Amino acid sequence: MSAKIISIANRKGGVGKTTLSILLATALATKKGLKVCLLDTDSQKSAVNRRLIEQAQNDGAEAPYPIEHVYPKYLTMELKHRSEEYDVILIDVPRLTDSEKDTEVVTAIVHCDTVIIPTTAAEMDVVATNDFIKIVEDVKEKRTELDMEFSYHLVVNKWNNTKDCTNTVEYFQGKGVPIFDAHLNDLVVFRPPSTYTSVLDSKEGQRRFGAFFEEFLKETNL
Ligand SMILES: Nc1ncnc2c1ncn2[C@@H]1O[C@H](COP(=O)(O)OP(=O)(O)O)[C@@H](O)[C@H]1O
Ligand SMILES: [Mg+2]
Repeated sequence: MSAKIISIANRKGGVGKTTLSILLATALATKKGLKVCLLDTDSQKSAVNRRLIEQAQNDGAEAPYPIEHVYPKYLTMELKHRSEEYDVILIDVPRLTDSEKDTEVVTAIVHCDTVIIPTTAAEMDVVATNDFIKIVEDVKEKRTELDMEFSYHLVVNKWNNTKDCTNTVEYFQGKGVPIFDAHLNDLVVFRPPSTYTSVLDSKEGQRRFGAFFEEFLKETNL
């Protein structure tokens, strides 16, 4: 079996791509017992650095899954190389920078079965998300044409019970964009998440992440 390839991506920085990548990777590895690999394709290496900090705190204890930095231009080869070894490969995708390097990032999405797009309800993030959806829709059209699986799903992150949040959901639903019913609250328990212990191990984490995780598992057939 080849790995399911899921990227966490958006045009914009600061919307929670790295946070969500780690939350999902850790929960899939420790709660579902899946063989998971998280590929950090962002030059800022936030996920890799998070793991390094925790590794030092944990006296080098064995981590539940690897987090490795990969340059977007090598992602195709890296995925091919790893796909027989894992059940799930998650990719933390960098934001777009309006440079020619963006082509590499977009190419990375072409190889995914599923793209999870976190956004916040902030106007600037919604605008960037709309732009990004156009790119993802293009990929979807091509993959569908080639009879390849593909789905994408939005999730509102940093939910704070304001009208902006509900308006954002209604706006995307109105456009027919697939969006999770569950959202991720703006919470300390997610800041920053652990790459060793699932947020689902705490009562608050279960309450705040459980519904989203269940919906994610269902949508991705995991
Ligand atoms: N649900 C959340 N609750 C609280 N803080 C969050 C949440 N999601 C992200 N953050 C914080 O917002 C900032 C940006 O998140 P990050 O995951 O690094 O975004 P990206 O990878 O898209 O740039 C970080 O400081 C992170 O800790
Ligand atoms: Mg990031």
